[in-house]
Amino acid sequence: MDNEKSDVPAVRVSAVSKGYGKGAARAEVLRSLSLELPKGAFAAVMGASGCGKSTLLHVVAGLVAPDSGKVEIGGRDVTAMSDGEATRFRRRHVGVVFQSFNLVESLDVAENVELPVRLDHARPDAERLDALLRRLGLADKRRRRPRELSGGERQRVAIARALFAKPDVVLADEPTGNLDVAAAHGICALLRELHREEHCSILLVTHDPVVAACAGTVHFLREGAVAASFAPGGDPGAVSARYLEFYR
Ligand SMILES: Nc1ncnc2c1ncn2[C@@H]1O[C@H](COP(=O)(O)OP(=O)(O)OP(=O)(O)O)[C@@H](O)[C@H]1O
Ligand SMILES: [Mg+2]
Repeated sequence: MDNEKSDVPAVRVSAVSKGYGKGAARAEVLRSLSLELPKGAFAAVMGASGCGKSTLLHVVAGLVAPDSGKVEIGGRDVTAMSDGEATRFRRRHVGVVFQSFNLVESLDVAENVELPVRLDHARPDAERLDALLRRLGLADKRRRRPRELSGGERQRVAIARALFAKPDVVLADEPTGNLDVAAAHGICALLRELHREEHCSILLVTHDPVVAACAGTVHFLREGAVAASFAPGGDPGAVSARYLEFYR
């Protein structure tokens, strides 16, 4: 039974298409895109601005419905779920770090991190909250509101919130987009540690070769589909070289 289960990928995207607009203004963003994130894998998605990376993440998260195709998380078809079902499923199994953070301004740091768990009518684990905030360098900022934080601090709150409920799958949209190189490196190291310790699967979108090099696999998106995939072997230089070669 367990063996059977371990063959199920954390995420399976099958022939997903998604476009926006109507008539002449119609733009096809994802075109029959397929992608598999094996259980326990850490993968990065790269590609030009506007190529559909955030759209892909939102479709996987169940926040945007695809026009066609299927998304399965841990073997469950999220595209077939009702809105309410998908929301409940997401709160329990998926942690999302949005490109624009999506923190709630009226709540402080600790309350923002606990929010998805409270919405799920569960009791937040105080020890885990302390540990995560400490780990992310936010222990002394737990009573601050988002507007009283720097961009990098807000980003770390968003990461803490995504990880708080120990999700099976973490989806992160440019989680280091607002950080300096050293801080971005710190977030990468942290994600890698958490990935190892908590056995979650991570799908992360980034423009940064240093961040992409932390992943086991890098996928390049072009014309709405995964056009190439490779193992960066921890080498940001190799990612840059492949990227330039690919998108030249
Ligand atoms: N809600 C929407 N309505 C209409 N068009 C949209 C919508 N969301 C995204 N788009 C368009 O879809 C395309 C892909 O957008 P998306 O945000 O997925 O790109 P991206 O690869 O994440 O870019 P970036 O690297 O700049 O974040 C863009 O051309 C964008 O303008
Ligand atoms: Mg984006």
